[in-house]
Formats: sequence, C-alpha cells, structure tokens
Amino acid sequence: MAENLRAPKGTFDLLPPQGDVFLRVRELMGQYAQRAGYGYIETPTFEDTSLFVRGVGESTDVVAKEMYSFTSKGDDQLTLRPEGTASVMRAILEHGLHKGALPVKLWYSGSFYRYERPQAGRYRHFSQVGAEAVGSDDPTLDAELIITAMDIFSSLGLQRVSLLLNSLGDHTDRPAYRDALVAFLDTLDLDEATRERVKLNPLRVLDDKRADVKEQLVNAPVMADFLSEANQEHYDTVRSLLRTAGVEWIESPHLVRGLDYYTRTAFEFVHDGLGSQSAVGGGGRYDGLASSIGGPDIAAVGWALGVDRTILAMQAEGLLKESASSVDVFAVPIGAECAAVAFDLVTQLRRAGVSADLAVDGRGLKGAMKAADRSGATLALVIGERDLADGSVQLKTMETGEQVSVPLAQVVSDVINTLKLSKDGRNQQ
Ligand code: HAM
Repeated sequence: MAENLRAPKGTFDLLPPQGDVFLRVRELMGQYAQRAGYGYIETPTFEDTSLFVRGVGESTDVVAKEMYSFTSKGDDQLTLRPEGTASVMRAILEHGLHKGALPVKLWYSGSFYRYERPQAGRYRHFSQVGAEAVGSDDPTLDAELIITAMDIFSSLGLQRVSLLLNSLGDHTDRPAYRDALVAFLDTLDLDEATRERVKLNPLRVLDDKRADVKEQLVNAPVMADFLSEANQEHYDTVRSLLRTAGVEWIESPHLVRGLDYYTRTAFEFVHDGLGSQSAVGGGGRYDGLASSIGGPDIAAVGWALGVDRTILAMQAEGLLKESASSVDVFAVPIGAECAAVAFDLVTQLRRAGVSADLAVDGRGLKGAMKAADRSGATLALVIGERDLADGSVQLKTMETGEQVSVPLAQVVSDVINTLKLSKDGRNQQ
C-alpha cells in the first residue's frame, strides 16, 4: 500500500472491538423494527439524482450542498444516497406495494453519504437504521414509531435521550403560516443568502444555527397557532398515545427538520452528551413525498436513527465496555502434530455451534496460552503429544485453572456441557 493512502476525509474505519458494538447496536435497532411489524428492504446505495432533488427538496442543505453526484460512464446522473426515505418511497411506487395491503411497513439499514464539513459526530459516510410506514395517516403509526425509537435507546441503556416534538401542518394550513412567517422574516436583518432561503422555503430559516439569526427568531410565529382542526386533532392523538406509553417529550415549535418533505408530526431524538451534533435520530410524517416524485398522494411516516451517533451517545454515558470480541473455546496445540488435531476439533466445535478459535503459527505453550487469555475464552483445549498418544486432550477452565482429561471423541459434548454448566452458574449468581 502506498505510504500515505488513508480513508477519505470525513470517513473512518470501524475496527474491533468497536466494530462488534456497531453490529450489535444496528441489529438491536432492526430487531425492534421487526418486532413492530416492519419488513426488511434494501435499495441501491445510488439513485437517479432527480429522486433526491425532487424528494428531499432544493432548499435543503442536503440537496444544495451535500450530495455526492456524478455522471456515470453511460451518462446517467446519479447520486450516492444522502438519506433513505426517498429511495424507499421510489421502491414502493416502482413495485406497486402501495396498491396492496396498507400500511406498508419497512425498515432498512445501511450507509449514507453527505458532503458535510466533518466534525465530531458528523461524517461524510455514516450509518442509519430507518423505518417507514407508508399508506396511512393514522396517528397510531406516528406514535408507534416514536415509542419504538425511544424503547431502542433505553434498551441500549441510554438515559439522556430527549424527544423533541412539533407539528408542521400540511397543504391545508401551512400556506397561511408561511405567509405570516415571511411577513415576520421580512422585518429582520438577514444576509442575502438567507433572504434567498426565505423565498425558497421560509421554514428552513427556523433551522438556522447561527446565534445572531436565532436571537432574531425568538418571537417568530409558530405553526402551532395555525394548525387546522384535523391536524390539531392528529397531533393531540399522537401526544395522547405517547403519554399512555410513558414517553415524555419537549414541545419544540421551531423544530422544522433538515429535509423538505415533512408534514404534520415532526420529531427529533437528541442526546445532551454530543455537543452540536446532538441528534441521534429524527423523522416525521411526509404525506407529500410520493406525489413530489411522481406518485399518487400517499400518507407516510418514518424515522432514521444514526448508528454512529448512537454509539457516541453510549460512549458519553460510559456504556461501552472495553471488552474484545470473545470466543467460548480456544485450542492450544503443542507441537506440529497436535496442530492438525486442534484444527479438526475446532472445526467440529464450530459446526456444533460453539464459538471457537485456535493458536496458529506453531506458537509454544507460553505464547499460545497468552493468546488463549487474550481471546477471552471460558475454556482452553490444551493438546499435547503425550495426551494425544492416550487419545485424549486437556480441557482447562480459564478462570479457575482447573484441568481435566477428556477423550477425543467426547470433546464436543463435554465442551458443550461444561459451557452450559458455567453459563447456568453465572446466571444463578
Ligand atoms: P436526518 O435527520 O437527516 O433524517 O438523519 C437521521 C439521523 O442520521 C440523524 O439524526 C443523525 O443521527 C444521522 N446523521 C445524519 N447525517 C449524519 C452525518 N453527516 N454524520 C453522522 N450521522 C448523521 C433522515 O435522514 C430522514 N430520512 C429520516 C426519516 C425517515 N424521515 C422520515 N423517515
């Protein structure tokens, strides 16, 4: 490898043991989605650029500044996906899933790409697990998704995740709000770029993070005062379902989210230990997305959780134990002849469902036992020539140092029984 080849700016390599934590967190997020009736979907990591321009919206930073877009050798305009919702909706429309039983409930997991300024918790390549419920405007789905996400965070041991909640209205009531907001924004001292944003999408200005702009926005009109009766009722039902489930939230009238497709319920999950990149997840209703990409009017709601930031949040709460990934059994052959027997036993154990590893490179007893220690194994199989001549090996319990001789033919069953006993013992403690 050339000396100075490194992972591109804003990306990172996941190495063990963090890689194993990452996998566990991602799997748990998916399990919770599956438990709530969501089926797994996988879409391509790149799509036609127009999908995101039309779906996510031109006034967003994501589309205006952060897309990895390129022209393919076949002259196609393509973009590495910056988010998953537009792709899921494209797939639903393409395969006509919206014409079958509704709602269509799907979850996904994968890599996403945004050309952002890298900083702690903000990467150019990051991971999300997302869930989308498409084809119904029942507030039960909004609540189900929010509760599922909060349950995921608490099952990971996180105690400092807060839920920010708002309703953004829709085409029935947002125009009046938009007019009031524009009239208010016109009275402010804003730079040219921000004035342009007001024209494109005034709600976006509420998302401005600059202190001097934020200060001026304190008295901005809020959507809550403009909600139609139906949208107010929808929002009230969501909140009542959250209350029943014991989920608390912070009413956040300025929460607009960074993507243009949101209508009605909008939410964000934030953690207080992450500095400025505090959102560990976010989502909301996006009843207008399907029609903006050429489909019929289809109500939908969903979220995406940031796997990388969730792990940073766990780190901030001291929840990451520095344990290496471990196997149950580690085989230590002493001498070349024993290596083949050790390899055979390890293969048999793995085939029987036991996690097992072995010392390689003809290491001596001392080095091999060190490797066994490092592996975190509960049991070591010490395989020496003298024992082998008797048709047996030594089974050593690493914690106590206790060692018993086991006939070769019984190794697999004895290992399974001993592991079971030691696990039962630990559970009873
Ligand atoms: P989003 O808020 O853009 O929403 O992203 C969701 C989460 O992905 C964020 O809360 C954050 O944890 C993580 N994330 C986003 N950008 C980065 C980054 N540059 N580095 C690290 N983590 C990041 C969406 O993407 C919507 N598609 C969510 C949704 C689904 N709405 C409806 N359905």
